[in-house]
Amino acid sequence: MRILVTGGAGFIGSNVVDGYVAAGHEVAVVDDLSAGSPANVSRRARLHQVDVRSGDIDAVVAAERPDVISHHAAQVNVRRSVEEPMLDAEVNVLGSLNVLEAASRHNVRRVIFASTGGAIYGEMESGTAADEGHPCRPQSPYAVAKLAVEHYLEGYRAGGLETVVLRYANVYGPRQDPHGEAGVVAIFIQRILGGLNPVIFGDGEQVRDFVYVDDVVRANVGALTVPAGEPVVLNIGTGHGTSVNALWRALATVAQPGVSPYHEPARAGDILRSVLDPARARALLGWSPAVTLEDGLRRTWAWFVANADTDREREGAPT
Ligand SMILES: NC(=O)c1ccc[n+]([C@@H]2O[C@H](COP(=O)([O-])OP(=O)(O)OC[C@H]3O[C@@H](n4cnc5c(N)ncnc54)[C@H](O)[C@@H]3O)[C@@H](O)[C@H]2O)c1
Repeated sequence: MRILVTGGAGFIGSNVVDGYVAAGHEVAVVDDLSAGSPANVSRRARLHQVDVRSGDIDAVVAAERPDVISHHAAQVNVRRSVEEPMLDAEVNVLGSLNVLEAASRHNVRRVIFASTGGAIYGEMESGTAADEGHPCRPQSPYAVAKLAVEHYLEGYRAGGLETVVLRYANVYGPRQDPHGEAGVVAIFIQRILGGLNPVIFGDGEQVRDFVYVDDVVRANVGALTVPAGEPVVLNIGTGHGTSVNALWRALATVAQPGVSPYHEPARAGDILRSVLDPARARALLGWSPAVTLEDGLRRTWAWFVANADTDREREGAPT
């Protein structure tokens, strides 16, 4: 298959590219490199440094003639979306529409969209995991934009485009950017490696669903061929909640840190509980998460340790 991955130089997108290349597909990448890095991109994929908002997207899609577009490019910082909602909408709504318009002009068969379960469902009741029928209560411009694109996709589907929406939980693993505000695992690891005490906001009992990136990649491989006659919207999470305190303890077992976390006041608007029920993905894709939190943390820690020097060089910090 010919596949175009937008955001393919970023954390999840580049891992998805690797998964598609390994499965024998011909892969091209669109990324403006605002957050991603060419070093993340498989040598067997062509990289187009193009902004998803630009008119050049049309020429890339015309030249690559993909069967499938996997749309991962996004402004991913929730807090920034609150501060700069126009920018967030330009990239996450208008940029996505630009990609969808090019897809329909050039007879792309299927679009896979990286959406978010964590942000669009909003607060969940204690003890529960949200299935795809959970009410959507987006609380940030980022979440509103993701949900809006899901709705736009329904329109394109009616026009003949096959669409698969993957609503990710909290994804972690190699290549996650520790400098942003998302990605608590990467941030904790970066702090440990720098000998700095990590911050836990609030009491640390807020619960998240941490899913390892290789499992997310397998879901993206399954999404290439899942029958899509009906709308396909799938949670990609583990169904298990882990508090931030418990995450720290699990990571400490792996990393044996010489630092310990300190608490700062909870951030306004932070969700207390977010856990996704993956039953539908199991039924439709035969997908279930294969990597335990302990194993995923071990692999992620090993990757960050092995790449720590590169990271320091990128930051321009003394080595
Ligand atoms: N990381 C998570 O836990 C998580 C959870 C839910 C959904 N998602 C979604 O998954 C996707 C990938 O997220 P990620 O965590 O890998 O983030 P990331 O920042 O590593 O990847 C996003 C990529 O998009 C690129 N990009 C940003 N703006 C662009 C633009 N205007 N034009 C072209 N490229 C642009 C960036 O350079 C980057 O490489 C995003 O759509 C995100 O919303 C991520």
